[in-house]
Amino acid sequence: MARILVAHGSKRGSTAEIAEWIGETLRDDGHHVDVTAAKDARDVRGYEVVILGGALYAGVWHKDARRFARRHAEALRACSLWLFSSGPLDRTASEKDIPPVRGVAAWMSRLEAAGHATFGGRLDPEQRGIVASSLAKRMAGDHRDREQITAWAKDVSAQSG
Ligand SMILES: Cc1cc2nc3c(=O)[nH]c(=O)nc-3n(C[C@H](O)[C@H](O)[C@H](O)COP(=O)(O)O)c2cc1C
Repeated sequence: MARILVAHGSKRGSTAEIAEWIGETLRDDGHHVDVTAAKDARDVRGYEVVILGGALYAGVWHKDARRFARRHAEALRACSLWLFSSGPLDRTASEKDIPPVRGVAAWMSRLEAAGHATFGGRLDPEQRGIVASSLAKRMAGDHRDREQITAWAKDVSAQSG
């Protein structure tokens, strides 16, 4: 069984919750798992597997996920690394495999990540903020597919000894 860190960059909490769900699945499989906000992670050495996820905003990974990748690059290259993104406010992420956005694809190759998944996102209908509230008028809802997330976590688990 592996020691696994799940770190997340999340503005409105839905990516953080995905990270918790992934953590639960991995724990159920017997792994030792810590789930943390990426900005609070101090040292990633000591984990055999790291899962790093970030919300997508305007086509870019959440800044905490990017900073984490930059700060811990050397240690991340030495472990088994998996990435995920959350964002699409429709069913597309459940229906097909959505490739990483450009910036995340660059991190994948730089850090030699083992894999990536895109999960649907969530937006509150009562969202505040000019851009977010106008987006929410059209696209509010919870598009996270827990079955898809669990299946992905199971796959990571199976490849984590
Ligand atoms: C202003 C704004 C911009 C967004 N841009 C994108 C985007 O470029 N691509 C995408 O897939 N989702 C986008 N989303 C959807 C968010 O990624 C989604 O709401 C996600 O679940 C937010 O995660 P969080 O709750 O962890 O912050 C955007 C949402 C907002 C409010």
